[in-house]
Amino acid sequence: MTKIAVANGDGIGPEIMEAVLSVFKAAKVPLEYDFVDMGKWVFDKGYSNGMTPDAQQTIESLGILFKGPMETPKGKGVKSVNVTARKTWNTYANKRTFQTLHGVDTVFSKAGIPIDITIVRENIEDTYGGIEHMLTHDVALSRRFITRPGSIQVIKYAFEMAKKKGTKRITCGHKANIMKLTDGLFLDVFYEIAKEYPELKADDVIVDDLCMKLVSRPDLFDVVVLTNLQGDIVSDLCAGLVGGLGFAPSANIGDHICIFEAVHGTAPDIAGKNIANPTALLLSGIGMLRHLGLMEAAIMIENALLYTLESSVHTGDFGDRSIPSLSTTDFANAIIGNFGKEPAHNPKPYMPNQPATPTLFKLDDYPMLESVESQQERIVGVDLFIESNEQPSVIAEKSLKHTLNIFKLVTISNRGTQVWPTGSSFTNLVNQYACRFESIGDAPVTQVDIVELYKRLAQDFKICSTELLNKWGDKKAYSLAQGQ
Ligand code: NAI
Repeated sequence: MTKIAVANGDGIGPEIMEAVLSVFKAAKVPLEYDFVDMGKWVFDKGYSNGMTPDAQQTIESLGILFKGPMETPKGKGVKSVNVTARKTWNTYANKRTFQTLHGVDTVFSKAGIPIDITIVRENIEDTYGGIEHMLTHDVALSRRFITRPGSIQVIKYAFEMAKKKGTKRITCGHKANIMKLTDGLFLDVFYEIAKEYPELKADDVIVDDLCMKLVSRPDLFDVVVLTNLQGDIVSDLCAGLVGGLGFAPSANIGDHICIFEAVHGTAPDIAGKNIANPTALLLSGIGMLRHLGLMEAAIMIENALLYTLESSVHTGDFGDRSIPSLSTTDFANAIIGNFGKEPAHNPKPYMPNQPATPTLFKLDDYPMLESVESQQERIVGVDLFIESNEQPSVIAEKSLKHTLNIFKLVTISNRGTQVWPTGSSFTNLVNQYACRFESIGDAPVTQVDIVELYKRLAQDFKICSTELLNKWGDKKAYSLAQGQ
């Protein structure tokens, strides 16, 4: 029998996990559970990443984690155990499915508009690295990493999944019109991979437009792939379209370890009352059963759940208020009582089990993801970010003294807007500028040249951050300042 790791989680976690596992038990799901210690309570015991070493070892050896929601302790310096788990085990794709559920009334179900959207959200990179620094007492910086190998992993997964699901359309949501290098890279990779799937219609929509279109015509979308933060926001929007967080399941997919969990959090306001809705965790569990090839059990439970929802049986967070709501436990029992029944709408066809035991192996080294370097790379300058509350013309005057006959001062910007050599005195300034130095005649420069420039400029300013300016062939590998 396949063994999986289970973490109950915090808040409503233990209640909804118990309800879901009672449904699995009644359905005789052939799984064994190894309960692991993870969550806020483990963090409180002094394990700074929210899990015990035993838990980590068990999850890494079993390859599947079914988890309840976990609280992120409030306070500076404490990282979310949920995000740590996704990143540590490289679950690069977060798949969230949002479907019309009959019995869960929404604006769209009442209007007869069916919804079946799968959001694939990149799960490791973006601002979720949480790499942040105060550059001055007024200026905070967050680093946003979008990488080619990371984008390839998640976008490839999205195309494969769309193909298996038999979808026709796959859409990339992005903001490449503004973030030309980061979102631009993600979008480029999307269209590179699209060429391998000519049977799928691949298109892209700018993320703000996507939000507007999703709330007006959600039926036009099928699979949507996005970067991490945009995907997080858009998937909660989609949860709202189908009835709320109580109905949003998710799977965190990696090559070695997969984590199945609900989208919602620990719901501290209703924890311990046995009134939480276990549907999202149950749907996540059904996704896990499918992933493990346990199709018969997955389909029987899903049909029973859909039948139960259609019968107007509900917990307190949704459904017909004139019908009394059930507790978490009774809701689970109602589903068990409906085993063998088929919903009137979209019953799932019975399918034989397709055993797919997770491939287990031990990794000795960290896998290195790297794509082939295709063009000549060279350093042609540097952006030095300095702290100053002086006017741009004064900063220019001081900076120009230090160019060493190697560099020219090209632009000075403040919050990304050029303020020297041209600009507008209507631009508000903060006490942090970027001074861009490029090599004279576009000649390659060395890191030693840059250190020398740094030392010279440091005589006049506190330098808070440094970024090299690279060129790949003739292409600038850096953005221009607004107005440059
Ligand atoms: P939340 O999702 O826990 O709650 C938002 C609202 O939805 C609350 O009113 C809650 O009662 C309701 N709700 C959520 N799940 C429900 C369910 N199954 N049945 C009925 N009502 C439900 O979000 P919130 O309050 O922002 O976060 C609480 C904690 O959860 C935080 O510590 C947060 O970090 C953590 N969290 C954990 C996640 C995870 O483990 N994957 C995801 C999101 C938040």
